[in-house]
Amino acid sequence: MTEEIQNLRGQALTEILTCKDLSKLENLRIKFLGRKSKISFLLSQIGKLSKEERPVIGNLLNKTKKEIENQISSRKEALQILKRKKSKPQKAFDITLPGRPTEIGAKHPLFQTWEEIENIFISLGFEIVEGPEIETEYYNFDALNTPEWHPARNLSDTFYLKNGMLLRTETSPVQIHVMERYKPPIRIIAPGRCYRNDKPDASHSPIFHQFEALVVDVGITFADLKGTLDSFVKRLFGEKIHSRFRPHFFPFTEPSAEIDILCINCNGKGCKLCKNTGWLEMGGAGMVDPNVLKEVKYDSEKYTGFAFGLGIDRITMLRYRIPDIRILFKNDLRFLQQFV
Ligand code: PHE
Repeated sequence: MTEEIQNLRGQALTEILTCKDLSKLENLRIKFLGRKSKISFLLSQIGKLSKEERPVIGNLLNKTKKEIENQISSRKEALQILKRKKSKPQKAFDITLPGRPTEIGAKHPLFQTWEEIENIFISLGFEIVEGPEIETEYYNFDALNTPEWHPARNLSDTFYLKNGMLLRTETSPVQIHVMERYKPPIRIIAPGRCYRNDKPDASHSPIFHQFEALVVDVGITFADLKGTLDSFVKRLFGEKIHSRFRPHFFPFTEPSAEIDILCINCNGKGCKLCKNTGWLEMGGAGMVDPNVLKEVKYDSEKYTGFAFGLGIDRITMLRYRIPDIRILFKNDLRFLQQFV
């Protein structure tokens, strides 16, 4: 009987050790330790043995049973670890490696300027609005008192889409959207992207950025326009810088003017940046044309307003002395990293 038990032990331990899967291991447990197993049977027969044999065989059986149990539980552990390893990527993570440096991003200089402009106007009591970049001819031209024959409407100046819409050529159509939706008093700026069919060079880009300012209320005068512009320019470029107007024409303002600011490089003395004129061109302005007010069903006898539009690219180039507008749109990291 001792030999039988030894054989059983040998068979059980080998089968358990070579078992490769957890469910088969459970079958082995039932086979060698279960109620119908040989060991259970032999244990039940102990009473039939002689007094001398009983303790010897009993001991051996119990020892063997314990041994098989231990073997099964250690094999179970090993198979569980193996299973976990297989389901995970094999590569170990080396915590002694130096960390990868994180590159610090920064806002594009154009958007730094954009935000600063917004903040100045917010502090002056303006609201920020945005309008669509894809416009109808009505908003971009007709409602802005720009007749069919106006050169700005030419195919060679404006990007038309197949469906008859177009990429806005200025932020001025936002004036119409705002006045259609709200009653005076209006005090907004509308920054955004604009598009013109221009060949790119150092000072032209088919995509560029403007912001529109519009104020409409009872009793708004040209002095309000001048005062607002001057406070803005001083806040942005410093107390010494002021603006001047040159008579000009825009279809949607009357009277209209072009805006210059004192050259921020030479304070008006004359230098390369201002081509020795002492002044830098910044954009357009004027009193809202009564025809535009009528178009949006405002009472043009009661309300007056002013509007101006300035180039955000132009301001950015001046602030950072960027010589070529195309640099702003190239995403060259050597340029962008200077603004971190
Ligand atoms: N939209 C004009 C331009 O792009 C500028 C402008 C805005 C002029 C508002 C007058 C009033 O040239």
